[in-house]
Formats: sequence, C-alpha cells, structure tokens
Amino acid sequence: MSTILVTGGCGYIGSHTIIELLNQGLHDVISIDNLVNSSEKTIDRIEAITGKRIVNYSIDLCDLAATQAIFEHHPDLTGVIHFAALKAVGESVAEPLKYYHNNFESLINILKCCEAFAVKDVIFSSSCTVYGSIDQLPVTENSPVSRAESPYGNTKLVGEEILRDFIRISKNVQAIALRYFNPVGAHPTGLNGELPANKPNNLVPFITQSAAGLLPPLTVFGGDYDTRDGSCIRDYIHVCDIAEAHVMAMDYLGNGKNTDAYEVFNLGSGEGVTVFEAVQAFEKAAGMKLKYMVGDRRPGDVMAIYSDSSKAEKYLGWKAKASIHDMMASAWKWQQHLMQEA
Ligand SMILES: NC(=O)c1ccc[n+]([C@@H]2O[C@H](COP(=O)([O-])OP(=O)(O)OC[C@H]3O[C@@H](n4cnc5c(N)ncnc54)[C@H](O)[C@@H]3O)[C@@H](O)[C@H]2O)c1
Repeated sequence: MSTILVTGGCGYIGSHTIIELLNQGLHDVISIDNLVNSSEKTIDRIEAITGKRIVNYSIDLCDLAATQAIFEHHPDLTGVIHFAALKAVGESVAEPLKYYHNNFESLINILKCCEAFAVKDVIFSSSCTVYGSIDQLPVTENSPVSRAESPYGNTKLVGEEILRDFIRISKNVQAIALRYFNPVGAHPTGLNGELPANKPNNLVPFITQSAAGLLPPLTVFGGDYDTRDGSCIRDYIHVCDIAEAHVMAMDYLGNGKNTDAYEVFNLGSGEGVTVFEAVQAFEKAAGMKLKYMVGDRRPGDVMAIYSDSSKAEKYLGWKAKASIHDMMASAWKWQQHLMQEA
C-alpha cells in the first residue's frame, strides 16, 4: 500500500482528512506536526474514531534535514497533503517574519523533498483569502486574486505562486491548490474538532465557546450591511466535506485524471449564510438561545463572499453535502465533549 504524508496532521483540517483517508483504506498515512498549534492527543482521537493508529513525527518542517529523514524512512510515499502552517491573521500582522519564515520554509522544504524522492502528488491548503474583497459573486477560480490584507493571507497567495513556478520546472511533481472558504464544524461523533489555542477569531468556535460560558456574549460586527438581514454573508463549509475533497483530489492526481500539472479548485458550499442565520442555526441545533449583541462594523470585513465550487464538482466529483445545521450540531457536540473531558 502506498503512503500519504499529511503535514499538520494533528491540526483541525489535517486530522479530519486523516480520518477520511483511513476510512477510505487505500493508503497508509503518516503525519508530520511539530504541535505548535495542536497536541498529540489528536492521534488518540483519530484512533478512537477509526480504530487505526497512525504515527506523528513531531518535527519542524522548516528543518530540511529532519524532513528529508522522514522521506528517506518512507520510500513508499506517493503523496503529500500539506496543511502545516501558522494561520492566525492578527498574529501574522504583529509578527510577519515568523509567518513568512514558517509558511514559506515549510512549503519549500516539502517541495524539495518531493522532487528529490520523486513523491508525485502534492495538495496545498490555500484559502479564499487570495481573492481579497471581491465584489463579483459567486467567486470562481477565474476571479482575480488581489493583494493580501495580512502577512498570513500573503503566505497563501505567494505560496500558490511558489507552487505554480516550481511545478512548471519539476520533473517529478504535480500539484493541486485547494482554496477553502470557511471550514467549520467537527466530526459527527463529536470526538474530534477545532481546538483554538487562543480566543477564537472565527464565528463558529466563538459561538460554541460563548454558549458554553467560556467567552462573553457574541458581538455581531455590523447589522446594517446591504444584505437580506443586515449581517455579513460567508460561505461556511463542513470540515468533513473539506476532508473528503482532499481524498478525492489525491485520487484525481493519483489516477492521472488531471489535465494540467498544477490546478486550483475552490472548496465552498456555494451558499452564503448570514451571521444571524448562523446564530439561528446554532440555536436550533443546540436547543438553546444564544446571547449576542450587534456592534459596529469591523474594519476590513467584506460584506459578502461565497464560492462557485462547480469546478470541483465537475473534475473531482466533489460537492459539499453538510448543511449549516449539521455544522452547528457537530461543533456543539464537540464543545460538549471538550467540557466533559476537562
Ligand atoms: N481553518 C481555516 O479556517 C482555514 C481556512 C483556509 C485555509 N486554511 C489552511 O488550512 C491549513 C490547515 O488549517 P487548520 O485550521 O487545520 O490549522 P491548524 O493550526 O489546526 O493545523 C495546522 C497544523 O500545522 C502544524 N504546524 C505549523 N507549522 C508547522 C511546522 N513548521 N512544522 C510542523 N508542523 C507545523 C501546527 O502544529 C498545526 O497542528 C493551514 O495551511 C491553513 O492556513 C485554514
């Protein structure tokens, strides 16, 4: 059986993708994660869900020699799904060099190793942040990318360029960049989910932690936008749907179905959900009222962004399945699991 390396496998999206890969059963899986934003407990959680135990190598991907040693140790590697990155937008503004160093160096080292060890298939975690504040909706892969608003966003924009330029000259490697919209939710068992190390910036973990009494009431930033209920519109996508897309993208590359050596796909539900609708979905899923207030608009927030993900449907055979209710119900189940565990 071939082996897939998942970098950042102890993190939020990486761990859900490992679960999908193990359930598919076509590949062995290993992880490299230095635990800078996660813990080895995730490996236990993956085992509890799948019944399979995988190895995580706790090394820094910025260390080329250590990364090479893992590739040497696994001559059966055929693909890499590269999730590992730092991702806190605010921190990236405060510490840009830390973000540029970590996110570029790790990507470059992965590409060097893939080329040297002829590991053919690479999937890169990108983001809808590459589109910036776009006013043409829905967003397709042909929509223009724009100057990133943070060093983090820039690591995705330039990361894609690094990948594209490298693939152009590579003898051994082909790649896909997947641009995620807003991944949320948790595994439906409630046994694995997002573990924000600090106060979450994202809506769903903020809602669940606030409902659990761990954070103050939610502030909805702006109730006077020109949308159906005045709040911002985002494209939320269940983390398990995102995970499934990675498995399908790996199969697509592995089976030689790609037409270009470097391709890009949006991963979104294709539907815009307002902040108030998300709050209502949570209240219904959790069977409780959520305390919130409506505050001023937050600088830098775009009014609405949602995807056209029909390219992924056409080529990868992938389509998001989970509803906003499923996303909220699983996120709440995970939050309750965490509280029981504490
Ligand atoms: N979660 C989102 O909303 C979102 C949206 C768009 C794109 N992405 C991208 O998806 C990827 C995964 O995101 P996530 O939400 O699972 O993040 P996460 O922080 O939960 O997972 C990333 C993992 O990478 C590890 N890591 C970071 N730098 C490393 C290094 N140098 N060496 C080894 N391990 C390292 C961290 O410890 C962490 O476990 C990231 O590239 C992120 O930028 C995430």
